Amino acid sequence: MLDRTPGRPENPASRIPFDGARPGLNLGLNLMQLDKVCILGGSGFVGRSICAELARRGIAVRVMARRRERARHLLVFPKLELVEGNCHFAPDLAGAFAGCDAVINLVGILHPSREATFERVHAELPALVARVCRERGVPRLLHMSSLGASRDAPSEYLRSKGRGEEAAHAGTGVATTSFRPSVIFGPGDGLFNRFAGLLRMIPLVLPLAKADARLQPVYVADVAAAMCASLDDRSTFGKRYDLGGPEVMTLEGVVRYTAEVLGLRRVIVPLGDGLATLQARVLERLPGKLLTEDNLRSLGVDSVTARNGFEDFGISPARVESIVPGYLGEHGRRGRNQRFRSAARRD
Ligand SMILES: NC(=O)c1ccc[n+]([C@@H]2O[C@H](COP(=O)([O-])OP(=O)(O)OC[C@H]3O[C@@H](n4cnc5c(N)ncnc54)[C@H](OP(=O)(O)O)[C@@H]3O)[C@@H](O)[C@H]2O)c1
Repeated sequence: MLDRTPGRPENPASRIPFDGARPGLNLGLNLMQLDKVCILGGSGFVGRSICAELARRGIAVRVMARRRERARHLLVFPKLELVEGNCHFAPDLAGAFAGCDAVINLVGILHPSREATFERVHAELPALVARVCRERGVPRLLHMSSLGASRDAPSEYLRSKGRGEEAAHAGTGVATTSFRPSVIFGPGDGLFNRFAGLLRMIPLVLPLAKADARLQPVYVADVAAAMCASLDDRSTFGKRYDLGGPEVMTLEGVVRYTAEVLGLRRVIVPLGDGLATLQARVLERLPGKLLTEDNLRSLGVDSVTARNGFEDFGISPARVESIVPGYLGEHGRRGRNQRFRSAARRD
């Protein structure tokens, strides 16, 4: 059974005394009460869980979104303010950070475009966010990276994430903590939901690239719990946490499990590298970009933790089978149908 206890046994010495005196923390800053947190990239899948976790902790949140409409679903949370702005524009960031005690940067993309390149979104933006935090006296920054992110990773996604992580930690005056999760699952994810969509759409046989890629799916609420627990815990300052779930699965295992939950019989055919590249070249030209060559290169390295950062937070991460059937399977479908009926005021 899932242990949802979010914090390790309280270590008072590791909590920031929010009265201005901060023994051992040589930032030359006086941290204020952790009242308000600004989130960038809050409108997405992980953002929703972070907002929920902060609401649970009674912390006020300001989400800056590029399009207000895309983040309206967050207005269900108490003490949540939505502002519109361009996170690549320093004055907009400065405005959004005003009055905030911490910033959480979740902005990320899987597929670049001409305007939003990996370099701009994953590397330049974290550098800008850290700089504006410094200039505006925001003392705390949580940065969302990715497991495997590094300057010499095989894909541009992971390399740009690596450069961004370094930029987020460069300089002084801001206490930065980075989180490096493996693939994240939960309601609305792009993992089990994506394969569920494919399995429903494609009859009989599913050709699968990188079937043997190893992943450690991690539950979105656990990621949110670790990140929010770190906010005022100075033992986490300057650290980078790899996060993974309790089990390692191959990509084929993920697809097989998804089919099982959905009650679908499919033959999964692992593709060799040549055919996988061909498949990616075709799919990256189609709307939705189900798979790109860069994705293939990311899947070429194991997304598995050497040491799981959850240990430091006293969190036992949830197992796939304890969560996924709740939003993919029969139960999930019933829940969804009920929500649709309620929305249509038919019951
Ligand atoms: N999901 C995973 O499996 C996983 C695993 C490891 C790491 N991560 C990292 O976790 C973070 C959150 O991921 P997610 O799954 O929540 O992704 P998501 O659902 O796609 O959300 C991404 C967020 O970034 C915003 N964004 C993207 N490009 C932007 C741009 N150019 N300017 C401003 N905002 C932009 C999006 O805003 P709009 O709503 O306006 O598009 C959205 O709020 C990302 O950094 C991702 O790399 C995710």
